[in-house]
Amino acid sequence: MLQHDTDGAGPAAPGRGDPAQGGPATTSTAARREARRLARALESTVDISAHLDLDHGLVDRTILSDRAIYRQELRRVFAPSWLFLAHESQFKKPGDFFTTYMGEDPVIVSMGRDRRLRAFLNACRHRGMRVCRADAGATKAFTCSYHGWSYGLAGELVNVPNGEDYPAHFDRQEWGLTQVAQLDTYKGLVFATWNPEAPPLVEALGGMTWYMDAMLDRDPEGTEALGGVHKWVLEGNWKLAAEQFASDWYHVNISHASALMVMSPSGKGPKAEIVQTPGRQYTDPLGHGAGFPTHPKSRFDDRVVHGHYDYEALRDRLGDARVEGPMTTGHATVFPNFSYLPVNGSIRVWHPKGPDRMEVWAWTIVDRSMPQEVRDAQRLYNLRTFGPTGIFEQDDGENWSECQATAHGFMAGSMALNYQMGMGLQAEDGVHPGTTGHLYSDGAARGFYARWRDLMNTPAWHEKDQAKAHEKDTP
Ligand code: FES
Ligand SMILES: [Fe+2]
Repeated sequence: MLQHDTDGAGPAAPGRGDPAQGGPATTSTAARREARRLARALESTVDISAHLDLDHGLVDRTILSDRAIYRQELRRVFAPSWLFLAHESQFKKPGDFFTTYMGEDPVIVSMGRDRRLRAFLNACRHRGMRVCRADAGATKAFTCSYHGWSYGLAGELVNVPNGEDYPAHFDRQEWGLTQVAQLDTYKGLVFATWNPEAPPLVEALGGMTWYMDAMLDRDPEGTEALGGVHKWVLEGNWKLAAEQFASDWYHVNISHASALMVMSPSGKGPKAEIVQTPGRQYTDPLGHGAGFPTHPKSRFDDRVVHGHYDYEALRDRLGDARVEGPMTTGHATVFPNFSYLPVNGSIRVWHPKGPDRMEVWAWTIVDRSMPQEVRDAQRLYNLRTFGPTGIFEQDDGENWSECQATAHGFMAGSMALNYQMGMGLQAEDGVHPGTTGHLYSDGAARGFYARWRDLMNTPAWHEKDQAKAHEKDTP
């Protein structure tokens, strides 16, 4: 496993009174200005309770389209949560980097000379320009193309053109790139958070790890990402995709009917083992969710991938419940915006791009021990089904865009949405850890929105810090 680090360059929390954030300008005047900004931000905070009645399975669809709610999500859901960044196999040697987003914040993930992974805000401390404009690559430094400030792999400011024209109190050490508060990996997946108070990653994943391991832990050597990242834009709120991947098997037989026909040997209808088996849906109190059919003959759809696996060995490694359930066909979301499909190794992030738009970034992962022909088969199967032009993916995108489009009308936008399926049917089933319900259920979507509501109604760490500064500053 790679080492990772959160020490070093700039601070993680905006306006925390750390001199590195504002340098000598962090005076009581600056603190007062920051407190006033905070007060304005808090005034516009929406009490989200009015928009969700989860006891009755009702959701107000303004949560998908309202800009004030969206802004609040960025500061109270995305900023404090652990967010997926990359797969650690993308970083092989010092200097390797990958650029992505945490919420709408651009970030660089890079491997330092010490082989530690770090993540930084991809915004120059001078005027805010992105200091890295490439998607991925290898470098010795990140040099801003505006005025030339240059940052080392640990985020430190190493060069400032015309440095002699800055005043004596200008200290380069205080102007490094802003670094995430915590970065950690779980079985190859790299996550980070801006929140210094967030629980450790493994705690934040909670009971979901048992389900994630059905994809990540089939092979003692772990997984690896193949090729690059597919990226595409959808007109739809990010939550539509995240909640569906947490909980929605319901749409499969209808939305994907034509795709299932294509995949059926007779060409006449969906494969019975896909649509008629019973299944379970896992609901996590931390907002994660996973659904999967359960069948003793659960297997990978692709013949080459299916042929590669020794199912008895997998049963020894993962247990019958995982092999017959979440290991193959199914869907899952790690709150808030990371989802995956174990059957084809598709892992994806739903990057928010305003209330009405998301950008999908999707990787294919394979077991490290897979021979080349099996890797190729998994990659091609993923592309055929869930690539940007995949026969399933296109159905899903169309649904989300349609649901978003109708939210703009006044009448349609005022209509409550129904999340009542499976209410009262969730329990511990003695086979799958945690709370599960029937495969066809909105249970995990209700869990996703309960977690989202709680975060939306709770001041994040940066608001608490700033509120304290405000109290201190107010006579
Ligand atoms: S904005 Fe980066 S050097 Fe000026
Ligand atoms: Fe789907």
